[in-house]
Amino acid sequence: MTAEKKINKRIKIIGCGKMASAILDAWLKKSISPQNIYVDDPKPSKWLLEKKKDGLNINTKTDVLFDYCFIGVKPQTLDEIGLKLKTLSKKNVTFVSMLAGIKINRLEAIVGKEESIVRIMPNLPAEILKGVTAFKENGMVEAEQSENLAILLEAFGETVKFVEENKFDAVTAISGSGPAYIFLIAELMTEVGINLGLTYDEAFKLVKHTIDGAGSLIVNSSLRPQKLRENVTSPGGTTHEALAVMMNKDNGLQKIFSAAIKAAAQKSKELSKA
Ligand SMILES: NC(=O)c1ccc[n+]([C@@H]2O[C@H](COP(=O)([O-])OP(=O)(O)OC[C@H]3O[C@@H](n4cnc5c(N)ncnc54)[C@H](OP(=O)(O)O)[C@@H]3O)[C@@H](O)[C@H]2O)c1
Repeated sequence: MTAEKKINKRIKIIGCGKMASAILDAWLKKSISPQNIYVDDPKPSKWLLEKKKDGLNINTKTDVLFDYCFIGVKPQTLDEIGLKLKTLSKKNVTFVSMLAGIKINRLEAIVGKEESIVRIMPNLPAEILKGVTAFKENGMVEAEQSENLAILLEAFGETVKFVEENKFDAVTAISGSGPAYIFLIAELMTEVGINLGLTYDEAFKLVKHTIDGAGSLIVNSSLRPQKLRENVTSPGGTTHEALAVMMNKDNGLQKIFSAAIKAAAQKSKELSKA
């Protein structure tokens, strides 16, 4: 469940594009006041600049101490902000990196092994407070830092804590990239609906609410997806007919999903070696 707790911590965000803005939006709605947030971004968006009048600090030079530093730049920009990160070390800051493919030891090499570092992998439904965030802490994160971090992460959805960092390639392939797979399914179902004679509006409305409803059923039911599927598939019916094609052993979705998600995990592995 998403938390409604407020916390009084000072947070720096370095790089506030799509993902960090979704996270920031959730915090401003629920857990933290804008005066406690300091954003560094070379070209702050209109949305960010709007928040300035509520007290959000953007590209300010004030010498304040932070509890958390969220890193939201692209992975290839990490070296560029290395010096800035280094100046925050030895000040009891917890560094939280959302950078895909960047391992904790790479961050430790920049800020120091004795620093508290957390690697997170959020996903875009954070925008509507329905994200799911995987996270892994290094050995230096203390209980209180960890508790407050949980509040910050739960402000935009669910969390899954990991002990093994090597699972992050799978996490990236499942939940990091996952929303795009569902968007593709929505796109394809709409297209087929149109081919079958529906208008775009008719097809898209049917598709989006079908996905929303089925997703909510998965979340709210105690049954596994396989059982839910079996429950709506009567022998010889229309669903059965479609699933026979989708579940074909040779060229069905099982094979395609397996190949596709393994390719994403492999790419994540390669990126973390680069
Ligand atoms: N988007 C997702 O669904 C998602 C999911 C999980 C993890 N992530 C991770 O989140 C991170 C950000 O992704 P994103 O999609 O939000 O990318 P993005 O929209 O490009 O955000 C990156 C931001 O960092 C800014 N920036 C560039 N150089 C900077 C610097 N030297 N100092 C401070 N800020 C700087 C960029 O400004 P300019 O645009 O002006 O360059 C931009 O506003 C990535 O590391 C990605 O791996 C993203």
